[in-house]
Amino acid sequence: MTSILMVCLGNICRSPLAHGILESKLPSDRFYVDSAGTAGYHIGDRPDHRSIAVAKSHNVDISRQQARQFQTSDFDTFDIIYVMDHSNFENVVKLARHTKDIAKVKLILEVNQSITNKRVPDPYYGEMSDFEHVFSLLNNACDIISKKLTRKSL
Ligand code: 4NP
Repeated sequence: MTSILMVCLGNICRSPLAHGILESKLPSDRFYVDSAGTAGYHIGDRPDHRSIAVAKSHNVDISRQQARQFQTSDFDTFDIIYVMDHSNFENVVKLARHTKDIAKVKLILEVNQSITNKRVPDPYYGEMSDFEHVFSLLNNACDIISKKLTRKSL
């Protein structure tokens, strides 16, 4: 089993989308996908209604997810930790115990070499179009990730 964690700040907008999208592209018997936030503002909350709506419009159901906070033990549970932006990267790396932990943390958009800006913008104070843009960035990245992972684990 390969375990992948998606991380953003609040775990209600970006990482729930990344979690749901990647989960929908991978076989569940071989891959476990989860998400978390570096902050604890929204622990126990469902994803933002705009993330739920944009996912639903692309046939991805994220409505049953619940926010949780990233914790040091996640370095033991997960093989890869994808973060949405540089601030998430710093916050996760602050909790690392050794270089092996740090090596698991990657900016999700690094997988897409044709994109120069590696930051998934935070849509929380934005419009529906910002959520659509985030969906599209994450969908492209998760396509690349799922192809890479399924090839590797054959
Ligand atoms: P996310 O967006 O990190 O993509 O889940 C945010 C959600 C909530 C807040 C910030 C970002 N907040 O400040 O409550």
